[in-house]
Amino acid sequence: MAVLNVNIDHVATIRQARMTDEPDPVWAAVQCELAGANGITVHLRQDRRHICDRDVRLLKETVASKLNLEMSMAEPIVKIAGQIRPDQVTLVPEKRAELTTEGGLDCVRHKKRLAAVVSRLHKKGILVSTFIAPDEEQIIASAETGCDAVELHTGMYANAKTDRTVTKTLNELRDGRDIAATAGLVVHAGHGLTYRNIGPVAAIEGLCEFNIGHSIIARSVLVGIGQATEEMIRLIKG
Ligand code: PXP
Repeated sequence: MAVLNVNIDHVATIRQARMTDEPDPVWAAVQCELAGANGITVHLRQDRRHICDRDVRLLKETVASKLNLEMSMAEPIVKIAGQIRPDQVTLVPEKRAELTTEGGLDCVRHKKRLAAVVSRLHKKGILVSTFIAPDEEQIIASAETGCDAVELHTGMYANAKTDRTVTKTLNELRDGRDIAATAGLVVHAGHGLTYRNIGPVAAIEGLCEFNIGHSIIARSVLVGIGQATEEMIRLIKG
């Protein structure tokens, strides 16, 4: 059965809008866990636009489920991950000007660096996943560098405007899942998933962990983060 990690970056976005101390992502994480989330995901960006070091440290102390840290392979960030030791790291590409993570990580191009980072994180007991397009070369490169999992980028599916593109992108996710499973990788998925579009992706067997952020936090402004989390879990379980 697939599970949900709630990405709580945008709780910190609200806090940072006023550079104050509320709402605290730690409070949000507690509510998500009480509502049944499998884990909590945060992205420690190099510009610290939402989540900051202190949040990751406190979440490491307080999250009772699973803490998944999204991050780039920039050296200062890799060092922080090694010190804080989240349960899992998901490696993502990062551009300073982007609104959110745009494409997947190019594991083929950065294979040497990736292998070194995976090995260092493994030595700290951290599971490693890469956020990648459902592309054979990227999946195989992730497997060859020793990753435990891949997170298949669902952005192309989420942005699909026609039925044909929806079908095509769902097929790509299914093919990606097959290639990853054959390569011995656990398969996660995420990006751009909402209450409206989660159904067909959640129905793909073998996608075992979803990382969903913006849509849940947007709904939580109106219904509360516990209810928003419960509603998404219900849709994932179908
Ligand atoms: N997965 C990864 C790797 C991401 O970078 C993000 C965005 O931080 C998400 C999932 C969540 O995307 P969204 O906020 O669109 O649900």
